[in-house]
Amino acid sequence: MKIAVFASGNGSNFEVIAQAVAAGQIEAELTLLFCDNPKAFVLNRGEKHDVKTLCFSPKDFNNKTEYEKELTKIMLEHQIDLIVLAGYMRIIGPTLLDAFPNRIINIHPSLLPSFPGLHGIKDAYDYGVKITGITIHYIDAGVDTGPIIAQAATPILPEDTLESLEEKIHQLEHHWYPKVLADITRKKESDRK
Ligand code: GRF
Repeated sequence: MKIAVFASGNGSNFEVIAQAVAAGQIEAELTLLFCDNPKAFVLNRGEKHDVKTLCFSPKDFNNKTEYEKELTKIMLEHQIDLIVLAGYMRIIGPTLLDAFPNRIINIHPSLLPSFPGLHGIKDAYDYGVKITGITIHYIDAGVDTGPIIAQAATPILPEDTLESLEEKIHQLEHHWYPKVLADITRKKESDRK
């Protein structure tokens, strides 16, 4: 089972995934890191973990379709089984989606379908909900929609600030994303046999 992680920023989720692969908790090969932002810190993490890394953005292409065609070609060349989005800040278009049906997974920092979009943590905090959390789901053509694989919740306490809530959400992500990926890769592998 070969995994590619797509990330655009800090890459703390990439970090825990790389650690879980190295520890044998996720029984898969971390074949590729793809990053669309040449300044992202995740690139340092990729180098540290010695993961083959590719970096380019839609700006380097005539349009998004051409960008995704190139990405799809690379994924197929590397025989990638599963694409794991970890803070990848772009919407996946039909080119990639059609090539990897049910094989692109995302993590979102709210309890979907509440608070989709770019600011899931802040939107939940500002709304004043008393419980929020994380959602791990397959990608479909919508924004933060698609079949839900797992969710985990945390209360928002009166003493919480946006910063403390962000910290709690990241802790949930770092705990659950590797575990869920371990389950999925195991299941997809046994389905193939
Ligand atoms: C995470 O909160 C994830 O839920 C969201 O983007 C953030 C990425 O964080 N999709 P990091 O780059 O993995 O540290």
